[in-house]
Amino acid sequence: MGFGTVGAGVVRTLAEHAGLLESRLGARVVLRRIADLDLDTDRGVVVDRSLMTTDARALIEDPAVDIVVELIGGTGIARDLVTRALEQGKPVVTANKALLAHHGRDLFDLAARKKVDLYFGASVGGGIPIIRALREGLVANRIQGIRGILNGTCNYILTRMEQEGATFKAALGAAQKAGYAEADPGLDIDGHDTAHKAVILASLAFGFMMPLEAVHVEGIRGLSDADIAYARDLGYRIKLLAVIKGDETGVEVRVHPALVPLGNVLSSVNGVFNAVMVQSDPAGNTLYYGRGAGRDPTASTVAGDIADVARNLVAGSPCRVPALSLVQSAPKPRPMADIETRYYLRMLLLDKPGVFARIASILGGQGISIASVLQKEGGEGRHVPVVIMTHQAREGRLNAALDDIVASDVISGRPVRIRVEE
Ligand code: HSE
Repeated sequence: MGFGTVGAGVVRTLAEHAGLLESRLGARVVLRRIADLDLDTDRGVVVDRSLMTTDARALIEDPAVDIVVELIGGTGIARDLVTRALEQGKPVVTANKALLAHHGRDLFDLAARKKVDLYFGASVGGGIPIIRALREGLVANRIQGIRGILNGTCNYILTRMEQEGATFKAALGAAQKAGYAEADPGLDIDGHDTAHKAVILASLAFGFMMPLEAVHVEGIRGLSDADIAYARDLGYRIKLLAVIKGDETGVEVRVHPALVPLGNVLSSVNGVFNAVMVQSDPAGNTLYYGRGAGRDPTASTVAGDIADVARNLVAGSPCRVPALSLVQSAPKPRPMADIETRYYLRMLLLDKPGVFARIASILGGQGISIASVLQKEGGEGRHVPVVIMTHQAREGRLNAALDDIVASDVISGRPVRIRVEE
């Protein structure tokens, strides 16, 4: 269901790798039907026209259909159709992160009640099998933290801005043209697509459906070239990160641009590539890297899920790997005011005696220690950009300090604040 970019990629993969899949599964995966409202657009793959229908419900009800694949996206019709398929006891493979982030709890419950598989590998990381790593490879681990570059469009934009000095708009246009962006690019650049993926990873890591409302989300729309350049001078790159951390006291899930030191491998993840770093006990750090958007990488993971569900059907063991292994008592979402990290601050300060002392005293009053200061020379008496890197600080205290700085008479405009993730 859904014959768009990814749908066409799945059809191509199933056709071109039919023999390989059959030899690996001991069963043949046959494409029975394709449902889409648009049957006319050329998708670049050859399909038997008689397989195509505009009636997705008929596809679900077709007794010859054993596995339903949802690639429509969004939370409207896709939700109805996935619910319908599960209610009829048909396993579903979906790449729909928005659907799971908003309605995952209901859908996973329904799948468990009906004892059918609901696979969602392609909802995070495109071609990277990170969902499978968390569900299976790391099943014996306690997950302590996950940091990820999860949106190919944003990473592509940031990379082009950094490497070529491209404008935000030109870089976004190029990403859309290459088929990476969501139909609504606001989902990408305002961080919501990353937040949907972060909710799914956090829920797998900590065993409860993290409410989407508990995720702090900032996108890359407001990032300025100045900050990209200052960050580079200081030995960092700016990436849109999903940060997931948790222990028995709480779980924080946040999405925002972050300064990543050049020594951290995540800083070298460029273009449409995604990467996820998982910190867990006993494995330690493990890293997953690959193309996070686009037709073929996403099709690889969808087809991998189809293969896994097919194996379960052949072996008569549906739900062999439960989607979420729910914990008894879910840790609480941690409020943003309680997170602790380092900060990059850029502000336009008056260039006159005593101004630094004032800023240092406001920060110091909140227990925030300055790690470094960068100021380019300007004329005395004028406002000049000043960049301050702090040591580890609590966000609530930093906010209070920034309020005091804004209220002072030494700053022009508002400070820019970007979190640092080592
Ligand atoms: N728009 C998404 C991205 C596609 O750019 O990463 C994959 O979810």
